[in-house]
Amino acid sequence: MKTKDYIKVNKETWNNKVEVHINSDFYDMEGFLRGKSTLNSIELDLLGDVKGKKILHLQCHFGQDTMSFSRLGALATGVDFSDKAIEKAKEINKQLKLDATFICCDIYELQNHLDEKFDIVFTSYGTIGWFPNLDKWAKVISHFLKPNGKFIMADFHPIVWMFDNDFKEVFYNYFNTEEIIEDESGTYADRYAEISAQTITWNHPTSELLNALITNGLKLNSFNEFDYSPYNCFNKTEEFEPNKFRIKHLKNKIPMVYSLSATKK
Ligand SMILES: C[S@@+](CC[C@H](N)C(=O)[O-])C[C@H]1O[C@@H](n2cnc3c(N)ncnc32)[C@H](O)[C@@H]1O
Repeated sequence: MKTKDYIKVNKETWNNKVEVHINSDFYDMEGFLRGKSTLNSIELDLLGDVKGKKILHLQCHFGQDTMSFSRLGALATGVDFSDKAIEKAKEINKQLKLDATFICCDIYELQNHLDEKFDIVFTSYGTIGWFPNLDKWAKVISHFLKPNGKFIMADFHPIVWMFDNDFKEVFYNYFNTEEIIEDESGTYADRYAEISAQTITWNHPTSELLNALITNGLKLNSFNEFDYSPYNCFNKTEEFEPNKFRIKHLKNKIPMVYSLSATKK
């Protein structure tokens, strides 16, 4: 498989997940429709008060976080390349009478679809692994930020992606040495769902992430690491405190999530 096919392969995979995710306990649509926010304290602590702020949310899936921003009074725009996800996001936005905007495109292509600047660019949980080149990704972030605008991100730590599915051994390279092509069945939101698909992803070390941002005009304000995930989306987990999950046999020995804040110079 050539790298050039990754958009087609991954888009089909994400399109196939949408219906299963919407109906999963993991995404708790019932709670969301009733008004529950899907944002976690990890990112909220960095975001501060978003009321009245223009937020660009990259890789928004079917828009729960984007619409959670709208509920907080932000002017939110969500972007995702999955047409099925964006279709659902627009439907839910209408149903809830919210004012979020949704755009369907590859993040690398966003400048061809959007001509605005934002106070905040946000992305979270399951993001950069879908991109081969973080320099290109950081250029998009920098382009859409107003001067002094903030980039806020929370994601799974690259250490997590080194392990096999059961966290028994170091299986993958920490460094970005090659594309990782995998066939998966089920999905993180419903392990037993009857869907199977291929994914093409890349592991990105922290240095690659930070240097991509720094060389594209962003000044790092903070970088934090957490020994838990706010989502129960891995095998062999324990919930050691409410909504804090870690790998049972690894306890607090590895970082599971990081968050960062950076300002456009
Ligand atoms: C793990 S999800 C994001 C998680 C999000 N926080 C959530 O759970 O709702 C990853 C998202 O990235 C999107 N995606 C993957 N590659 C993309 C690309 N090249 N351009 C735009 N969206 C992409 C997928 O469609 C998917 O919705």
